[in-house]
Amino acid sequence: QLIDKGNHRHFMAKEIYEQPIVVAQTLRAYLQRLEDKVTLPIPDFDLSVIKRVTIVACGTSYYAGMVAKYWFEQFARVAVDIDVASEFRYRAPVMEDGGLMIVISQSGETADTLAALRHAKAEGQTIAAVVNVPTSTMAREADLLLPTHAGPEIGVASTKAFTCQLAVLAALAANLAKAKGRMTPEEEKAIVAHLAEVPAALNDALGRDEAIEAMAGAVAVARDVLYLGRGTDYPLALEGALKLKEISYIHAEGYAAGEMKHGPIALIDEHVPVIVIAPSGPLFEKTVSNMQEVQARGGKVVLISDAEGIAAAGEGCIATIEMPKAHPLIAPIVYAVPVQLLAYHVAVAKGTDVDQPRNLAKSVTVE
Ligand code: G6P
Repeated sequence: QLIDKGNHRHFMAKEIYEQPIVVAQTLRAYLQRLEDKVTLPIPDFDLSVIKRVTIVACGTSYYAGMVAKYWFEQFARVAVDIDVASEFRYRAPVMEDGGLMIVISQSGETADTLAALRHAKAEGQTIAAVVNVPTSTMAREADLLLPTHAGPEIGVASTKAFTCQLAVLAALAANLAKAKGRMTPEEEKAIVAHLAEVPAALNDALGRDEAIEAMAGAVAVARDVLYLGRGTDYPLALEGALKLKEISYIHAEGYAAGEMKHGPIALIDEHVPVIVIAPSGPLFEKTVSNMQEVQARGGKVVLISDAEGIAAAGEGCIATIEMPKAHPLIAPIVYAVPVQLLAYHVAVAKGTDVDQPRNLAKSVTVE
């Protein structure tokens, strides 16, 4: 397979732009559109026996796992324990008999995640691996393989693998819910319809690229950036901050919007852009009130929301990024795009080495 940048300046840009296609490709393996069913490529495994889920991963893959925790608990009512792989093994984790351990990894080779897999396996957990490289060590050592079909990811900072991981984890959440008797056929049909909308919604989100590029300069001059979100947008805020650190070399922190008052609010001034991820929906008002606390202290807010959210709360922001209206289930997948594009354009504005950021490796195979 020929791997080049196509018409893009960087692999990262190409990979961001590939997302509608590779997420569709991934979803194709998990959705039975004609029957309105969400399925997994592990037909013989009975998910109804799962009492507890442990998720372990590193970096961006870990944030995909954090989103999944919200989904598994909300849809399937299964308790989820989640940890970064480097901590998991050394904290004497308690794993219930009959538990499912999910490792998430683009490469399938990250040393810490692999060690966590082996530790949990030795403790009798069933191991499911959400990996992008089907020939990887994790894919081979797992009991259940849940592949993402993102294709080779070259940019060191993960992008398309993340949205594909979310697509697989959403399918897994739906299957867990079904197995637990918590999803009716009508609900399943609705979920299939929402997931089927994702590729088009990703395309729409990519359509905001120029607008994001135009406002990237306001972030590029900052020394510190704060990213805020609630619910599944909290892990996205963490991912947004990680992307800024990785490729733009800007110190950025992701925070749960409601936790801001317990510390980071002390940092707010006109020099710290605050990026707020707040799609309209049940948590919108709460996040907006946190955003207004920032504005009341002279903070400069960038609001990422849909037309409805921007109409309601966009006034007084230094910039707004308008996303297509997305159902709460798929919003974290769609909102990954502006977060990635913003970091990308900030990095380009600063002239950093986008695809090979300093000190980072694509796959970290040492502990
Ligand atoms: C490195 C990469 C990140 C990636 C992380 C986990 O730090 O730079 O982009 O998220 O490893 O990698 P994995 O292959 O396990 O998903």
